[in-house]
Amino acid sequence: MKNIVLTGFMGVGKTEVGRELSTILGWKLLDVDDEIVKSQKMSVSEIFSRFGEAVFRDLETEMIRKVSRKRNIVISTGGGAVLRQENMELLKTHGVVVCLTALPETILKRTSRNNERPLLQVEDPLKRIHDLLELRKPFYENADIVIGTEGESPLRIAEEILERMGWKR
Ligand code: S3P
Repeated sequence: MKNIVLTGFMGVGKTEVGRELSTILGWKLLDVDDEIVKSQKMSVSEIFSRFGEAVFRDLETEMIRKVSRKRNIVISTGGGAVLRQENMELLKTHGVVVCLTALPETILKRTSRNNERPLLQVEDPLKRIHDLLELRKPFYENADIVIGTEGESPLRIAEEILERMGWKR
């Protein structure tokens, strides 16, 4: 059995879909950002503002190395985790990598509910979302399975992932 790894841009619903998968399969959900926050005793925003993005990315790779050794878990990653080849290689070793997608406007709506995403704390977040999506497109396309989330419930998306993996009972 392989782990299920959820990737995709901020606000596409990785955590919600991860929870549904975890409930259906009875597998633990490990959220890479949450694990970093726990280990550093600092929020992601605080890590970015105090130490910069590069330090966060190193912590992210370190945490991905740790969680990707486990088996039978659902792993939810931060939106930028796909950018390092090393991360993808680690995640693919014991996992099926699924990328969730959504429209920029949906992402904006979902991410503007709080200010926990340092990369979107800019004057024109929609433009930033467009720019980052464009830049990251080839990295997200590296996933084993790509699934659109527009108009679908987290449960339905979780079921579709299992169907696409051939795991639907
Ligand atoms: C980031 C996404 C965030 C978090 C950090 C950077 C990104 O995670 O890791 O703010 O580069 O896209 P979510 O995708 O869970 O919001």
